[in-house]
Amino acid sequence: MSNDSLKRLRHRIEDLDVQLLKLLSDRAAISVQIGNLKARNGLSIYDQGREDAIYRHLAQYNKGPLTTSEINRIFGEIISVSRKLQAHMASDDREQLAADSDTSTLGVNTSLYGLLGNPVAQSMSPLMHNAAFRILGIDAIYLPFEVNDLRGALAGVRSLRIQGASVTHPFKTSILGLIDEIDVTAREVGAVNTIVFEGDSIRGLNTDWIGAVRCIEGLLPVKDNRFVVIGAGGAARAVVFGITRQGGKVTLVNRTKDNGLALAKGFDLPFAPLSEIEGLSGDCLINTTPVGMYPNVGKTPVPKGVLGRYKAVVDIIYNPFRTRLLKDAEAEGCQVTNGLDMFLFQGAEQFRIWTGKEPPVGPMRDVVVEALNQI
Ligand SMILES: NC(=O)c1ccc[n+]([C@@H]2O[C@H](COP(=O)([O-])OP(=O)(O)OC[C@H]3O[C@@H](n4cnc5c(N)ncnc54)[C@H](OP(=O)(O)O)[C@@H]3O)[C@@H](O)[C@H]2O)c1
Repeated sequence: MSNDSLKRLRHRIEDLDVQLLKLLSDRAAISVQIGNLKARNGLSIYDQGREDAIYRHLAQYNKGPLTTSEINRIFGEIISVSRKLQAHMASDDREQLAADSDTSTLGVNTSLYGLLGNPVAQSMSPLMHNAAFRILGIDAIYLPFEVNDLRGALAGVRSLRIQGASVTHPFKTSILGLIDEIDVTAREVGAVNTIVFEGDSIRGLNTDWIGAVRCIEGLLPVKDNRFVVIGAGGAARAVVFGITRQGGKVTLVNRTKDNGLALAKGFDLPFAPLSEIEGLSGDCLINTTPVGMYPNVGKTPVPKGVLGRYKAVVDIIYNPFRTRLLKDAEAEGCQVTNGLDMFLFQGAEQFRIWTGKEPPVGPMRDVVVEALNQI
């Protein structure tokens, strides 16, 4: 390609960027008008149905080369900015409450939810659930509890009549023997990440697998595709369960053979040790190990050379946003996604279970992304 052709193409890109900027400014100005109207009529800024309709509308018109998930990601940002502009215009109490993290309305009727784990200090769950309560105007609060004695903690939450809780590391398996009822899918996954109080009884459920499937399906359908999943810990259980339940095929890979074989046997899957990853291929590679997580951001669980054998790569880590594995995979031409959607949608399902209401996924995502950007 001559230098002139390159220059011409770059000029066209610059012209298009200016047109895009103008269109985005026009769109933002209309959002401000909508914000004013909503404020005057006491309407909520957040409208999940309307946002879903925008994405459906765009999917209908998308003829490539961008994928639907790429379009959704770009418009997710645009919609998020519109929402902020509208919220800025609105002066109704609920929006103000969302912005200010006001706790002055908490009282004897406030519903209490929590997180049982150890450690819990870094968890984004309180931020995400409290934002959702505020956005929907629900009188509830979600608190992190650093638990040393799970049995004692469960007795405590029972007598305090907490409505529900998330369960995280290291209790997802040990809680199975301590609660009254276990949902059939949680039993099949072999882990509980959500508890709910029904009268005097505590029921355990699992929403991690739903988050995992939603995360993967942002890139490619699960059904009939071939997945290589690295890791055999708690997160791998949820990922493997979700994929097999939705009709995908899994090969399990793990550093320690005995741990890998134990999980593979439970789900009737083929197994390979991590040292033999070079001999494998598939449609999608998924990392469920902590390798590459902050602060060890230079690490990756697999050599870059193997990544070209996959169309897509998922890393369930979301801190950092783009792990070394995802950067390597992009360089090899793979579609990639991190674990933010897994986290977001497991939390959204918990919210639905506890409140019976449609979770405000957009604002829940916004607060987490904003917090992660500040780390
Ligand atoms: N996005 C989300 O919503 C979400 C949800 C849950 C967890 N996660 C993330 O997923 C990761 C794993 O969590 P988990 O609860 O499954 O942990 P876990 O139960 O401790 O399991 C860890 C797994 O990673 C493997 N592993 C650890 N260090 C390794 C290394 N240096 N090289 C190769 N393999 C290694 C372990 O293999 P061995 O058997 O050989 O020890 C094991 O299979 C964490 O980073 C966590 O933050 C994300």
